[in-house]
Amino acid sequence: MDYALANRTALVCAASKGLGRACALALAREGVSLVITGRNAETLAATAADIANKTGATIRIAPGDITTPAGRDAALSLLPDPDILINNAGGPPPGAFADFTDDMWESALNANMLTPLAMIRAVLDSMIAKKFGRIVNITSASVKSPIATLGLSNGARAGLTGAVAGLARQVARHNVTINNLLPGPFLTDRLRANASTGARPLEEELAARAAANPTGRIGDPEEFAAAAVFLCATQSGYIVGQNLLIDGGAFNSTI
Ligand SMILES: NC(=O)c1ccc[n+]([C@@H]2O[C@H](COP(=O)([O-])OP(=O)(O)OC[C@H]3O[C@@H](n4cnc5c(N)ncnc54)[C@H](OP(=O)(O)O)[C@@H]3O)[C@@H](O)[C@H]2O)c1
Repeated sequence: MDYALANRTALVCAASKGLGRACALALAREGVSLVITGRNAETLAATAADIANKTGATIRIAPGDITTPAGRDAALSLLPDPDILINNAGGPPPGAFADFTDDMWESALNANMLTPLAMIRAVLDSMIAKKFGRIVNITSASVKSPIATLGLSNGARAGLTGAVAGLARQVARHNVTINNLLPGPFLTDRLRANASTGARPLEEELAARAAANPTGRIGDPEEFAAAAVFLCATQSGYIVGQNLLIDGGAFNSTI
């Protein structure tokens, strides 16, 4: 399928590794020019070089913490009017509700609700003016089905989901779409880190998680990125305000 994205521009946040990186690579394969962000400048530069090498795409880097005004300014000064915005940031730490302090809640809300909203606010007017915009928020399966140890994530991401549900319907008439992708388990550094906190050795834990999934495996970030590209396609202007769960069928429901 031709997604008709050649010569479009995208700002992909938190994209030096994992799901963000996979989205950047998949968009680059469609001929999209990119700005990618990440805190570790060295890793970010290596990722940009790798993606450019694999795809020939133009790719610029904005090192910085996307959850800070300075990090967002660094990205937006390179590309103030992207056609595509992929919102992403690190997830909050796991823990027990009783141990979550106000600071931890504020940090989670900032990273996983207020930061994506700030990025959307910054790019929305230009998308509306040019009658094209595709915004994809990487959230989590925890929005649909809470994960007991990830209370900070459950809460902050549900807030973002609620906020954009209304906004998506307000901007759709300008051919600007806002949708959320809800990852289940995908094999990234984050998943490995979370999986290594339990009683079982990492590889055993990963094997158990894979076996418990209806597909019998953990997701490949490239599969996640394929869905992101689909939502960004020129032809996807009628997909508005949706929450697409990509979890191998782990969430058990009939519809
Ligand atoms: N993988 C899964 O199975 C899964 C499932 C559900 C939800 N999620 C969520 O999806 C998101 C991406 O997860 P992932 O698995 O791809 O994580 P990952 O493999 O750890 O990659 C995270 C990427 O984001 C960058 N990053 C993190 N915090 C940042 C910040 N404040 N500013 C700029 N860049 C930042 C990291 O680079 P630097 O460290 O250099 O900044 C890295 O490039 C997270 O919010 C995670 O909670 C993932």
